[in-house]
Amino acid sequence: MPKQEASKTALSVAAMRAVHQLFDATPKILDDKVVVQLLGAPFVEQIQTHLARFQTIEANVLRSHILLRSRYAEDRLAKAIERGVQQYLILGAGFDTFPYRQPTWAHSLQIFEVDQPASQQEKRERLLHNDINVPANLEFVTIDFETTSLVDGLKKSSFDSSKPTFVSWLGVMMYLNQDAIDSVLKYVVALPSSSEIVFTFVPPLSSAKQVELAELAAKQGEPWKNYVMPEDLVQSLHSLGFTDITLPTSAELDAWYICGRQDGLGVSNRTLIASAIV
Ligand SMILES: C[S@@+](CC[C@H](N)C(=O)[O-])C[C@H]1O[C@@H](n2cnc3c(N)ncnc32)[C@H](O)[C@@H]1O
Repeated sequence: MPKQEASKTALSVAAMRAVHQLFDATPKILDDKVVVQLLGAPFVEQIQTHLARFQTIEANVLRSHILLRSRYAEDRLAKAIERGVQQYLILGAGFDTFPYRQPTWAHSLQIFEVDQPASQQEKRERLLHNDINVPANLEFVTIDFETTSLVDGLKKSSFDSSKPTFVSWLGVMMYLNQDAIDSVLKYVVALPSSSEIVFTFVPPLSSAKQVELAELAAKQGEPWKNYVMPEDLVQSLHSLGFTDITLPTSAELDAWYICGRQDGLGVSNRTLIASAIV
């Protein structure tokens, strides 16, 4: 059965991107004016009222993670286009706004936003309500990864599995059971060579703060179900057949995106991102 309610965690991470846009220093790690418009004025007023909650040390760590994963994925996408990628599959898209602020270099892509029906429905209502145009190169597809395979779900769209594709899967894997995860990764590795997936993962919980976060997600009806050590993940990606696997280090992410900023944003060991090329 698909979830009846839209994802609350998707709204929470969108709120963090809006806080960054409105209140963090420039240059932005992720320049996302559209998320502010998508959330809408009443929601943004609520953020403003509770701003202090978004500016604790712990909230800064989490916001940094949310920003870095999107920025990293979008930078990898830009590189993937240079090697011929033609489609962009955003899995568990939530309130990702890339399609609505896509730079000209992305116009050649066919983009697919994939999400659970209730989450996608809420996003589409917000797009309409807040006057955000759906670009011609975007298609929406509803799939619950735990009940429907990408093979079957994408049949409803114009997705072409013979074309090299870039896939992002940000903040989703930990909500899925192992079968659903394996099924997504097997689908991606069967795409044409030079396709790529960028995704985040969660290692076994080792701190009180991480346990608190997992408990919060569970309270929102979205329990974390999957934990994996980086070395085990790399091994399983290799055995699935991915060729070029990268886990950017904290030092690399810091050098690329933080560069001594003074607004409390930074890289923590929570920023666990992987990229794997077919
Ligand atoms: C934390 S949000 C992340 C959203 C977005 N990727 C981002 O970074 O802003 C998790 C997303 O995963 C989606 N999701 C969770 N479980 C799913 C499932 N079984 N099938 C499809 N989507 C799922 C939710 O609907 C939600 O949009």
